[in-house]
Amino acid sequence: MTLTEILDTFKTKLNLPKVMNPLERAADFYGGSSKVSEGNESRDLNDNPDINSISDAIRSSGAVRVSQNGEKPFIRLTGVWKIYQMGEVDFAALKGINLEIYEGEFLVVLGPSGSGKSTLMNLIGCLDLPSKGTVFLDSNDISGLDESELARIRGQMIGFIFQNFNLIPTLNTQENVLLPLEFQEEDAQTAWKKTDYLLEIVGLSDKKQNLPSQLSGGQRQRVAIARSLAVNPPIILADEPTGNLDSKTGSYILEFLAELHEKEGKTIIIVTHDLEIIKHATRIVYLKDGEIEKIEKRKKNGLEE
Ligand SMILES: Nc1ncnc2c1ncn2[C@@H]1O[C@H](COP(=O)(O)OP(=O)(O)O)[C@@H](O)[C@H]1O
Ligand SMILES: [Mg+2]
Repeated sequence: MTLTEILDTFKTKLNLPKVMNPLERAADFYGGSSKVSEGNESRDLNDNPDINSISDAIRSSGAVRVSQNGEKPFIRLTGVWKIYQMGEVDFAALKGINLEIYEGEFLVVLGPSGSGKSTLMNLIGCLDLPSKGTVFLDSNDISGLDESELARIRGQMIGFIFQNFNLIPTLNTQENVLLPLEFQEEDAQTAWKKTDYLLEIVGLSDKKQNLPSQLSGGQRQRVAIARSLAVNPPIILADEPTGNLDSKTGSYILEFLAELHEKEGKTIIIVTHDLEIIKHATRIVYLKDGEIEKIEKRKKNGLEE
């Protein structure tokens, strides 16, 4: 399979909104740009003989942090509207959203079907541009960034997990996880070792050669999680990640995400209705008809503040 074919498949699979040149969406998605250079040479995970947990892996990966300033929000939406044009009719899926997301948050987005959760997640993840208003990623107005700059920052800052897994059907487990690393121009040997390590963490070392069609739903989502962690981004964005999983497998996936938050300090932004995971929330954003109905602050033990 040629790279163009892979990119095409990827593009189709991701079904990204139309911010980018379609042919380059996949590369853009992961910040595949020759401009990536400074500080991007992650250390070899296996160089460190003490690595025996995901914490070690993450600490050792030396991935780029665009900002570690706890004072500034990672992501800020001000007066954000998303208006879809449906023929003659305009439909406002988001109506004036104001939201700041800080490092270390576990933000749960709740709302009925059609309330704008996925639209909001696409904007938070800088996969789409607002019709009105501003989205700041690491203090940069994303509409002011050129595509490669946006892709670079997004590729380093955000790992995505989707309900339908969004794996490339023609790539095996290992290749799917490797993909973002390739787009970040990771040195090949390091990238392979990192991929192996991540697959070990999610318990799929014996499924490296399997295509997505040869995996169960839970295994596919674990591949997607390994992929989202590949470049060690500080933020994980998950849109109903357990929507297509049975409850037991779903719990495993959600516990894994909670652990990433608690032990690794990852910022998690998640759309889910799972009551167990809501206990981990530091804030809950309630969406209704494209508006934030309320934001509930939580203490660590799940009680309302
Ligand atoms: N590309 C689109 N074109 C037109 N309408 C859309 C598009 N994407 C979403 N919508 C509409 O916007 C609203 C919010 O959608 P979405 O964000 O997917 O909701 P949720 O994830 O909360 O179910 C829905 O009414 C949906 O039909
Ligand atoms: Mg949705």
